[in-house]
Amino acid sequence: MKRVAIFLSGGGSNMVALLDDMARSGHAGMPCVVLANSADAGGLERARERGVPTVAVDHRPFKGDRTAFEAAISAALEPYAPDMICLAGFMRVLTGGFIEQWTGRMINIHPSLLPKYKGLHTHARALEAGDSKHGCSVHEVTAALDDGPILGQAEVPVLAGDTPETLAARVLVQEHRLYPTVLRRFAAGDRTPVMLQS
Ligand code: GAR
Repeated sequence: MKRVAIFLSGGGSNMVALLDDMARSGHAGMPCVVLANSADAGGLERARERGVPTVAVDHRPFKGDRTAFEAAISAALEPYAPDMICLAGFMRVLTGGFIEQWTGRMINIHPSLLPKYKGLHTHARALEAGDSKHGCSVHEVTAALDDGPILGQAEVPVLAGDTPETLAARVLVQEHRLYPTVLRRFAAGDRTPVMLQS
């Protein structure tokens, strides 16, 4: 079994989708800890309700010292001995030093069809560009932001009258399909990209 740590910053709907799938049969992964960069992250309570240990490592006292923040993360993770990390709405940028320790063992979900729209405000940017399709990607984490080998993508149509919020909601439904599908394969050693149609 691969011990999976999940990092989040917010409500954790992707984390819940991952936990629910790991609870189903035939999964090569099992959750070992959910980590947030704030004790207020709603996802922590949802993880606890599901019997998964949680830790909060607040980034604020580190005042921008990312290396010290990451050292605290590594120390907090150690008792749980994760084999891999899933970033699931973790809104802190990690340094190359931390990422290197987890090369090939850390994956992320991003709300765009990468390589389009790395970074923030992906839904607004897709609308501004007049794109007819949008979606989400799961990729291996490498030192460059929102880069790294694509493990899977799911597309959604952009509809007339969409706002960033309506588009985000349509993409999120697909995130909840895509991320568990990719993790199930990845934990079993399969890195072949999976492309989902909505
Ligand atoms: C998701 O849409 C995820 O793709 C995005 O944050 C949201 C988290 O929602 N991630 C990023 O933007 C990473 N740069 P959740 O907490 O409900 O899973």
